[in-house]
Amino acid sequence: MPTEKTDGLSGEIRTLKEKRKAVILSHFYQRPEIQEVADFVGDSLELSRKAAATDAEVIVFCGVHFMAESAAILSPDKVVLLPEKNAGCPMADMVDAEALRAAKSRTPGAVVVCYVNTSAVVKAESDIACTSANAVKVVNSIPGDKPILFIPDKNLGRYVAGKTARNNMTVWEGFCNTHHKLTRSDVLKVKAKHPEALVLVHPECRPEVADLADAVASTSGMLKFAGESPAREFIVCTETGILHQFRKRYPGKEFYPASNKLCCPNMKATTLEKVRRALATLEPRITVPPDVREKALKSLERMLAIK
Ligand code: 13P
Ligand code: SF4
Repeated sequence: MPTEKTDGLSGEIRTLKEKRKAVILSHFYQRPEIQEVADFVGDSLELSRKAAATDAEVIVFCGVHFMAESAAILSPDKVVLLPEKNAGCPMADMVDAEALRAAKSRTPGAVVVCYVNTSAVVKAESDIACTSANAVKVVNSIPGDKPILFIPDKNLGRYVAGKTARNNMTVWEGFCNTHHKLTRSDVLKVKAKHPEALVLVHPECRPEVADLADAVASTSGMLKFAGESPAREFIVCTETGILHQFRKRYPGKEFYPASNKLCCPNMKATTLEKVRRALATLEPRITVPPDVREKALKSLERMLAIK
């Protein structure tokens, strides 16, 4: 709900944004007022593409650390700001460069596919990145006889292995703390109340939750599905910030969260006040050392080349 305070802060942010020649990018999981003040709201893939293409001088990344790092890798000449410097991704922290190097030595010849939810140093040790929107395409771009090491999300990895019928994929044991909390019984309870509703599931959810889905899709994929479907009601199995976009885009339809547990504290750590402060001070800045950047860029560029 907009208030006098949020309206005032949003106005100040717009003025500062012009002054700084900045662009504000927001993930779908951000607070509604952040999504409203952003120039572009999207999923991880769309935000990477925007960060690579922008001619703004400053990118304010309303998301989590790995997203701002990806922007810094793709746009090294821009100032990249992460309004809350401690907004991390627990899943990205489940793999580090040392553990990855050890796994690579155990699976020689494997192509390392890293989910974009990884640090720059881990991307630098990987061959190609992917997001949940393009993971199937990325894996299909790798010759079938090449073994794959997929990091770090076991749920996305297993979903993609099933979709691509690959039996030569080793999947890391990471997971998203938020999506992994959702159980089959949570979804079935909401479904019992709304039996006509279609179930939309993000591939970061457990396989037994994905089995209940009418559509398994990335955040942008879910939005597209709801827009194109003749159905009027949907149960949304992903972070609740996206409900703002569903309701804004499709006001004639009903969207129910699968559970109130689906709240990522890191995504919610960014506030209007922190965005205002970031634009005023040009801090906190996210940078990537040139040697790491050069290698990590290859993984991201290979991904972005896949249409
Ligand atoms: P997508 O927006 O790519 O579906 O990713 C979800 C996510 O968890 C980002 O942290
Ligand atoms: Fe990481 Fe999950 Fe939060 Fe996305 S929703 S930032 S994967 S913890």
